[in-house]
Amino acid sequence: MPNAWKLLVENGIGNLVFDCPDTEVNILTSERLKALDTILDEIASNQALKALLVTSAKNRIFIAGADIKEIEGIQVKKDAFEKAEQGKKIFQKLEDLKIPTICVINGACLGGGYELALACRYRLACFSNNVKIGLPEVNLGILPGFGGSIRLPRRIGLLKALPMILAGRIVSAEDALKNKMVDHLYPEKTLLEDAKRFAQMVVKRGGFSRRAKKDAMTWFLEDTFIGRAIVFSKAKKDVLKKTKGVYPAPLEIIKLISKTVGRKGAAVYRLESEHFSNLGTTEVSKNLIKVFFLSEKYKKFRWTDSAVAADGIQKCGVVGAGVMGGGIAQLVSYRDIPVRVKDLNEKALAGALKEAMGIYKSALKKRKIKKHELENKMGLISTSLDNSGLKNSGMVIEAVVEDLGIKQKVFHELGDLTSPEVILASNTSSLSVTKMAESCRYPERVVGLHFFNPVNRMPLVEVIRAAKTSAETLEKTILFSRRLGKTVIVVEDKPGFLVNRLLLPYLNEAAYLLEDGISPFEIDTLAEKFGMPMGPIELADQVGIDVGYKVAHILQEAFGDRMKVASILEVVKKQGLLGKKSGKGFYVYKGRQKFANPEVKLNFSTKKVAAEDARKRMIYIMINEAARCLEEKVIDSAATVDIGMIMGTGFPPFRGGLLRYADSVGLANIVKDLERFQNQVDAKRFEPSAYLRELAKKGGTFYS
Ligand SMILES: NC(=O)c1ccc[n+]([C@@H]2O[C@H](COP(=O)([O-])OP(=O)(O)OC[C@H]3O[C@@H](n4cnc5c(N)ncnc54)[C@H](O)[C@@H]3O)[C@@H](O)[C@H]2O)c1
Repeated sequence: MPNAWKLLVENGIGNLVFDCPDTEVNILTSERLKALDTILDEIASNQALKALLVTSAKNRIFIAGADIKEIEGIQVKKDAFEKAEQGKKIFQKLEDLKIPTICVINGACLGGGYELALACRYRLACFSNNVKIGLPEVNLGILPGFGGSIRLPRRIGLLKALPMILAGRIVSAEDALKNKMVDHLYPEKTLLEDAKRFAQMVVKRGGFSRRAKKDAMTWFLEDTFIGRAIVFSKAKKDVLKKTKGVYPAPLEIIKLISKTVGRKGAAVYRLESEHFSNLGTTEVSKNLIKVFFLSEKYKKFRWTDSAVAADGIQKCGVVGAGVMGGGIAQLVSYRDIPVRVKDLNEKALAGALKEAMGIYKSALKKRKIKKHELENKMGLISTSLDNSGLKNSGMVIEAVVEDLGIKQKVFHELGDLTSPEVILASNTSSLSVTKMAESCRYPERVVGLHFFNPVNRMPLVEVIRAAKTSAETLEKTILFSRRLGKTVIVVEDKPGFLVNRLLLPYLNEAAYLLEDGISPFEIDTLAEKFGMPMGPIELADQVGIDVGYKVAHILQEAFGDRMKVASILEVVKKQGLLGKKSGKGFYVYKGRQKFANPEVKLNFSTKKVAAEDARKRMIYIMINEAARCLEEKVIDSAATVDIGMIMGTGFPPFRGGLLRYADSVGLANIVKDLERFQNQVDAKRFEPSAYLRELAKKGGTFYS
């Protein structure tokens, strides 16, 4: 295999170019690290060199990181330790070179890539949206193991480095400069030439420094024993609050940096390798890596064999300016596509504009967009009380109230108004898209496009294939959704599609547990400890009890007794307790605090349900329903269930996904528990599906 590293020399300045053969990205594999080791020996002994640039030959990438496949393959702690040691010894060699070393960052510089950059004396980057810099290892359940956990705090200070490593934050070129993660930014086109001039300047001057003096508070927190203790204790508290302790990597990072910050010598690097090895073989890390590969796969997954290469949509229409319509309009405009929003109600249109402005203002505050971008993007949203401006759209997305009759009327109107190539999409949560299409001319262009709330933040869309949806319509809708930045799963047109069909039984089961006498706090804590981002009772309040109740009923009508809605939901809804939006649901909300709502009467049963069983009831009911979805071919694979549940509901990625988790528990165990629950509560909802029973009997798994 050709060497990925090449040394070019011009006027005494070396340019070490990294260019992985046969791939679009530069990745640090063990082999390429070894090759780097060899070439660094040559550089060290080359007396003619006065400075060294490290550059990438790829267009938009410096180095995307270490090889994740290799990390996935690590099985024993010793190997994890040795891998970390191997990388950091080579980077140490780079750091120890006598000549100035300058890393030239022209694009993504992540993980091992930025650890290499940190081992150079200087880091230069360019003004470009392609520049993304950070140490995102924590997202794979590990920590930066090639010296990054030691060098970043040294370089930018503990107060900035610790949160950055703990969150795996990736920053833009401008933010990297502000944080001193890079020393200079140059125009993209002249980056290499400017870097060469910079090298000559450093050689001539004998150095260059941007070190700023610390203010007294920073000095106290970063450089005194008590100050650091405060910083680490707060970081730990924040991590535990956020993760409930289910992710080991952030805690390990805090442990490591608290031992190494401010210390010099080889021992601190060795400590980093030891802490890395504590994480490298954990099940959590293996699952997070699997989910990483899964999400990469679903970014490009081919769902149809249509030859369509682009969605061709230059303008979009949205009908219904409620919570969802407003969110969709903002998202479409964010991607620089003009959007016309129609509603029957002036107030709703004003509300949608306000909602969009709110999202943009918050993006502006977080420096994700600039002021002129806010103005331009808001300018792309126009509103109307009639159908004007919808006709020339490439796609019209319906987001009116969840009522089949009303939606059919809208589709009928849109069918007559628009030409046959205009895609008509429904954002329905649970209704039949096929029935909507029946009311419309050219039903082959009708498709479901199910966004989740809040639209700008939820990464998933379900694209629903109705009975007559053409492959071209489906493909264009997929491509359009990806242009909006979403991950797509394609789901057949069955009630609840995939995500709601699994999520509603989970919420319903939580309501049954309330009836069994478990408190809302206990139920939510159980789910949160399992890793769900929010407990089911609070989630029901968040979604709106009226909204959840409506969808739950649609599912009960479709699937009968096994989806029978818990009576407490009806009672609470009748009491007018709608959830967060009305300030009261199962909880009462006061500011950021919540309290059990005394108006909700909970003493339905005195039966005691063990905590373990309560958790199993909520999770296994979803697994059982997912097995039915596979049996009915609502979705194509277990992987689609997993990506859908992780991205659509926040199912904990460290579990690997709902069905990967089921596999880890063992399907026979799950069937046994479901049968036990069935006998205990005499309910149809726990009856194991034929598909699950069959798999369990064969000793199979969802992924086998
Ligand atoms: N809210 C959610 O969390 C959520 C999530 C995913 C999908 N959905 C689905 O999205 C759709 C909209 O939900 P929502 O929560 O935004 O509803 P909403 O009640 O907030 O808004 C609906 C809007 O549609 C307007 N409307 C009603 N009939 C109309 C018509 N004939 N022409 C134009 N406008 C009309 C109403 O004036 C209202 O402004 C529903 O199908 C719902 O199931 C909702």
